[in-house]
Amino acid sequence: MPSDAKLRLGVNIDHVATVRNARGGAYPDPLRAAKLAEEAGADGITAHLREDRRHISDADIDGLMEVLTVPLNFEMAATAEMQKIALRHKPHAVCLVPEKREERTTEGGLDVARDENRLAHYIAPLREAGCRVSIFIAADKRQIEAAHRIGAEVIELHTGAYCDAHAEGDIATRDRELEGLREMSAHAHALGLEVHAGHGLTYDTVQPVAGFPEVMELNIGHFLIGESIFLGLGPAITEMRRLIDEARG
Ligand code: PXP
Repeated sequence: MPSDAKLRLGVNIDHVATVRNARGGAYPDPLRAAKLAEEAGADGITAHLREDRRHISDADIDGLMEVLTVPLNFEMAATAEMQKIALRHKPHAVCLVPEKREERTTEGGLDVARDENRLAHYIAPLREAGCRVSIFIAADKRQIEAAHRIGAEVIELHTGAYCDAHAEGDIATRDRELEGLREMSAHAHALGLEVHAGHGLTYDTVQPVAGFPEVMELNIGHFLIGESIFLGLGPAITEMRRLIDEARG
């Protein structure tokens, strides 16, 4: 059990692009943010190319593939268009997420169990191309086992419900969600899946999740980009890294 393995921090730069797109210009530049994140100790960069291109653009993905020295975790919906783009770039990792146009953010995990056959065929060429395939799912045994059956190497557990309950001060729900994340991290690890986690994590919520020995990577974006208004991106990431290392240590 790699309980003392360093937990990787993936920095999601989508919301640098959200701010850029609010004015339709060239700044702030997500590539510059990605390079700064690398310098500040990010172990990877995560970017979600949404169907509606509301934040990251195709050109951003081209640029990230060119300039990054750390791995790119390319988040996308399981559509034919996105598969084609991923196969052209062959990023280190592809993370499949559910996508609804009307949602403000990725609200839930992918229902792998309901779409098992299609997803098994969908991920096969991505795996053959050398991408690590990760599936963003709720901490639900049925979904984890389905992800394992279709041949995913990684699952990312959705921490949104835990973080929302914390923000609302609903301690009972927060603790129940956290317990579910803990149990499902252990279950997925026992099946041989690599376990990642993310969504909505902040300085206040990161440590209990970082303390799960099976979790190998956290992907964090919105809070860090917001905090960088006050601290600067480098220091905001450094503080997150410190909290993660403290929880792990
Ligand atoms: N992981 C996945 C799979 C996501 O979809 C997102 C949000 O795009 C994140 C992590 C990061 O979430 P947040 O921006 O809330 O930190």
